[in-house]
Amino acid sequence: MGLPSERTLILSLIILVMCLCQTTSRSVRDAYISQKHDLWMVQYARVYNNNAEREMRGYIFKKNVEFIESFNSYGHRSYKLAINKFVDRTEDEFKPYVTGHKDTYGLRSHVSRLFKYERVNEVPDSMDWREKGAVTEVKNQGQCGKLFNIITFFGSCWAFSTIAAVEGITKIKTGKLISLSEQQLVDCNRNDLSEGCKGGSKENSFDYIVKNGINTENGYPYQATNKTCIAAFEAAWAATITGYETVPANNETLLLNAVSQQPVSVSIDANSNEFKYYSNGVFTGPCGTNLTHDVTIVGYGTYNGMKYWLVKNSWSADWGMNGYIMMQRDVNAPEGLCGIAMQATFPTA
Ligand SMILES: *[C@@H]1O[C@H](CO)[C@@H](O)[C@H](O)[C@H]1NC(C)=O
Ligand SMILES: *[C@@H]1O[C@H](CO)[C@@H](O)[C@H](O)[C@H]1NC(C)=O
Ligand SMILES: *[C@@H]1O[C@H](CO)[C@@H](O)[C@H](O)[C@H]1NC(C)=O
Repeated sequence: MGLPSERTLILSLIILVMCLCQTTSRSVRDAYISQKHDLWMVQYARVYNNNAEREMRGYIFKKNVEFIESFNSYGHRSYKLAINKFVDRTEDEFKPYVTGHKDTYGLRSHVSRLFKYERVNEVPDSMDWREKGAVTEVKNQGQCGKLFNIITFFGSCWAFSTIAAVEGITKIKTGKLISLSEQQLVDCNRNDLSEGCKGGSKENSFDYIVKNGINTENGYPYQATNKTCIAAFEAAWAATITGYETVPANNETLLLNAVSQQPVSVSIDANSNEFKYYSNGVFTGPCGTNLTHDVTIVGYGTYNGMKYWLVKNSWSADWGMNGYIMMQRDVNAPEGLCGIAMQATFPTA
């Protein structure tokens, strides 16, 4: 056996250099992510309890940032993602944001007989109810559903979806834009269908408002947790409605008719990382039709040649496009993108 041949030696050297480079680039990458995490923590005023949490969050942050950066690095996407406030959250911590919906659209007692927007004389090419002054500020449902650091799930999206639609029709009918109370629904509309932070029903909430009226946001402010109903607050009627109607399911043309006349409550499947980190542009999925989240359509239009629904979410203005998302409209499926045309309802006044 002689000395290793020159060739083996060169090969070994190459392998050694490759390993070193990889280690270096991995640690450069880790340092980059870690620094990004530090800056992000400052930006979002996030404080962790200890090093173990920093490490656990750091791992989630890295995984999600890599997902977001890789998504954004592809060209030809109609929308972008952002490293937003959700990037260091566990799946469980995010659940209260997307799982508050309860299915009541098809319940016998809730099906309305008529659909008054079957025929609408003039449906404009685009509509933005914000420009008509019929939409209040974007609100934040928060982690309603989180109880003493234990996540119990579900959430209060249903209350926000209901209230935004009622705020819309109130402005249209009375000329007054009044921010109304989600907390009253969370605390006072308690039954099998609406259970506070354990989830609720938008249709059932319209029924509640018919009977009880609704206070203002300031009169019964949002707490992001369910409490006992305050009777005095409940008794203060700032607005009311006469009933609600359902938009016939799975028909985006009829949904358009309705949205051309007023903001409409809808349920969607928001269970994807793409939705969670959505930043701007026309969202095209991926998503299915597992309806677990309630939002409100407050307009529609066309952007860069793509038709969209303008959707008001309740994750505060620091999510999406100042709290809104443009969701693709007139897709090749009757139920609409993410099931948006499946369970649309609107209040009447
Ligand atoms: C919130 O409401 C649910 C359902 O009624 C109840 O189980 C839970 O104990 C309530 N939580 C608080 C803090 O009141
Ligand atoms: C939607 O409803 C309209 C009016 O009832 C009807 O003419 C049209 O065929 C429906 N479209 C679909 C896809 O069902
Ligand atoms: C629907 O989404 C919820 C919330 O993420 C999840 O718990 C449930 O398993 C999903 N259901 C189906 C049928 O995918």
